[in-house]
Amino acid sequence: MGAVEVERLDRLNAETLEELVGIYMRGYEGLREYGGEGEGYAKRYLRWCWSKARDGFFVARVNGELAGFIVCDRDWYSKYEGRIVGAIHEFVVDRGFQGHGIGRILMEKGLDYLSRYTDRVELWVGEKNRGAIEFYESYGFRRVGQSGIWVRMVRDLHAKPDKPLGED
Ligand SMILES: CC(C)(COP(=O)(O)OP(=O)(O)OC[C@H]1O[C@@H](n2cnc3c(N)ncnc32)[C@H](O)[C@@H]1OP(=O)(O)O)[C@@H](O)C(=O)NCCC(=O)NCCS
Repeated sequence: MGAVEVERLDRLNAETLEELVGIYMRGYEGLREYGGEGEGYAKRYLRWCWSKARDGFFVARVNGELAGFIVCDRDWYSKYEGRIVGAIHEFVVDRGFQGHGIGRILMEKGLDYLSRYTDRVELWVGEKNRGAIEFYESYGFRRVGQSGIWVRMVRDLHAKPDKPLGED
């Protein structure tokens, strides 16, 4: 595998959206119950992610090819926390690229970004998605609740708000 480059997504045109939907569909193969209801859902959801958190939408490329992405929201009102926290809305690596450390590179980028703005991050993961739960635990996320098939996990960050909002 070539070098992995992670960068903020600069625009979400139709072509990029198609590529991201493909990564999402393949990435969640075998976990369909947590990966939404097909391509139409994925498209709407990824557009929503882009409109809500474009500043924290990071993609990984291998030899220029999109291989995965993470969507980090620095301005998420959590009704469970009763305040604004950071959130990871989506995190997926294309099936053929999984297990090569790309997830770790994306997660580090995402946490580094969020730690500039917030001291807590929440995410939701499918209860049977053991691999992802273990992955998150290895980053210090802990299970704090469950709603239906979804487990809520949080992690505290040592906030270092060294930059004003919007300047990154
Ligand atoms: C979770 C995911 C993003 C991780 O990306 P990745 O590139 O495969 O992860 P990495 O190669 O960086 O692996 C990091 C570590 O997590 C472990 N890991 C990752 N996914 C795993 C899985 N499904 N089962 C078991 N272990 C897993 C790896 O063994 C590795 O451990 P190590 O560094 O100690 O060897 C990827 O597996 C994925 O897209 N999964 C499907 C979508 C998903 O579940 N997203 C999260 C939903 S909330």
